Amino acid sequence: MRIILMGPPGAGKGTQAVAISEHFNIPHISTGDIFRYNIKEGTELGKKAKSFMDQGLLVPDEIVVAIVEDRLKKDDCLNGFLLDGFPRTVPQAEALDIALKNMSMELDRVINIEVDKEILIDRAVGRRICKECGATYHISYNPSAKGDICEKCGGSLYQRDDDNEATVTRRIEVYLKETLPLIEYYQNKNKLTVIDGQQDIDKVFRDVVGVLRGDL
Ligand code: AP5
Ligand code: ZN
Repeated sequence: MRIILMGPPGAGKGTQAVAISEHFNIPHISTGDIFRYNIKEGTELGKKAKSFMDQGLLVPDEIVVAIVEDRLKKDDCLNGFLLDGFPRTVPQAEALDIALKNMSMELDRVINIEVDKEILIDRAVGRRICKECGATYHISYNPSAKGDICEKCGGSLYQRDDDNEATVTRRIEVYLKETLPLIEYYQNKNKLTVIDGQQDIDKVFRDVVGVLRGDL
C-alpha cells in the first residue's frame, strides 16, 4: 500500500500517520520529522532547513526531493509506505511520479484531510510533543494523562518553534498557494479522497482505514 497523506498544517496528518502506518505495517515517512531530526542533530541539512522552517516557508524542492528519493529506495519501502507532508508542490509531485515510475511502483491513494483555518491555528498552537518518543498531544483535544509529561514514556513535552500563531498563519498561507494545487493534480489522476478532519481522532482514523481497505 503506497499512500500520501495531505492536508494543511495542523490538520492531523502526523497523528493519523502514526496509527495508519502501524495498522498497515508500512513505514511512516514525514519530511517534517526528517528535518526536525537533522536540526536536533545539528547537521548541515538541519541548519539549511531550519532557516526556512522558522519562517513558515517551504524548504527548497531540490533538497526535499533528494531526501525522499533516497528514502524510498530503502528495503522497508518495498511493500509500501506512507508519505506525510510530501509532496507539497507540483514540482515535488512530478518528481515523485518519475521516481516511482523508475522503481515500477504506483501510488494507491492520496488522502486529503480537510479542516477549517480557525481550527488549524488552535490545533497547531496547542500541540505538544514528547522529547523522547515523539508522541503528539494537544493541551485541550488530546492531553497527556500526566500533564506536561508524556503518558507513554515519561518524557517531557515541548512546543515546536514554528507552532506560534504568526508562523502557523504563514504556513497556512504557503499551503494555500503552493500545496492546494496538488488537490487538482491528484484528482485528475483519480487518486484523491477527501476526509473530514474535524471529527474526533478515532473517527478520522476509521474513515481513513475504510477508504484504504477499499484499495487493498
Ligand atoms: P510538517 O512537520 O510537515 O508540518 P505541517 O505540514 O505544517 O503539519 P503539522 O505537523 O503542523 O500538522 P499535522 O497535520 O501533522 O497535525 P498533527 O497530527 O500534529 O512541516 C514542517 C515544516 O517543514 C514546513 O513548514 C516546511 O518548512 C518543512 N517541510 C516539511 N515537508 C516539506 C516539503 N515536502 N517541502 C518543503 N518543505 C517541507 O495535529 C495537530 C494538533 O492537533 C495536535 O496537537 C493533535 O493532537 C491535534 N489533533 C489532531 N487530530 C485531531 C482531531 N481530529 N481533533 C482534535 N485535535 C486533533
Ligand atoms: Zn513519550
